[in-house]
Amino acid sequence: MAVKAVPFHSKAYWESRFDKENHFEWLSTWSALHSHIEPYLDPNEPILHLGCGNSTMAFDVADSGYPYVVNVDYAQNVIQHMKSITDTQRYPHISWRAADCLQPIGKQLLEEDEAVVTDDNDATKNVEYTVVIDKSLIDCIACGDTDDLVHQKTLANNIMSVTRPQGVWISLSFSSEREYIAQQGNWVWRREIAVPIKADQSHDKPGAPEIFHWLTISRKVPSSSSS
Ligand SMILES: C[S@@+](CC[C@H](N)C(=O)[O-])C[C@H]1O[C@@H](n2cnc3c(N)ncnc32)[C@H](O)[C@@H]1O
Repeated sequence: MAVKAVPFHSKAYWESRFDKENHFEWLSTWSALHSHIEPYLDPNEPILHLGCGNSTMAFDVADSGYPYVVNVDYAQNVIQHMKSITDTQRYPHISWRAADCLQPIGKQLLEEDEAVVTDDNDATKNVEYTVVIDKSLIDCIACGDTDDLVHQKTLANNIMSVTRPQGVWISLSFSSEREYIAQQGNWVWRREIAVPIKADQSHDKPGAPEIFHWLTISRKVPSSSSS
């Protein structure tokens, strides 16, 4: 019998899914991740969260003391939905933006000026971030990739363009084998940590094999210091 693969790399798939789905949290929740991620966060620094979907992680991040979160997804309908459920009194610095991460991200963020909140500290005015997070965005990109991984390399390159020197890309994936490789002038990604995160298997049958996801943190460093 032919197996029909889910087209996770397709924008139409996500738009159709978001027409019916209000919330789904991929891979792991903030509670499983925060002890690894918080050492990289600064309460005054905006965080760029790419491929946000209808994850509520931005609210958890803000509740942990990091109020500036810019969430990005290419599905307009999920961005509209997340804007509509954001309590702007409680989360005045969380914004939701539509952009395709396989296209230059900073340019799209500058063009798209419909933030939830615009104030003098509006994090969306930044096109360079100290911290960029993707939670399973890279998995979607990998699903539609070519044999020579052109899409993963494009993603790695586009993320580097919106990351400050010495900034980090924090990525959670199903796989330990993703490509976090780019070079821009003298700048490259240097893998800082790759840790397995035990998946929540509370709904699995007893005796099910353990499942782990991979948290990889890469830093944008001069190539001379990358090894
Ligand atoms: C597996 S879901 C993860 C959603 C969320 N990060 C989570 O952990 O629950 C991947 C998300 O990436 C988005 N996505 C996929 N390709 C994208 C691209 N090229 N640009 C922006 N968003 C993309 C999808 O629309 C979807 O919301």
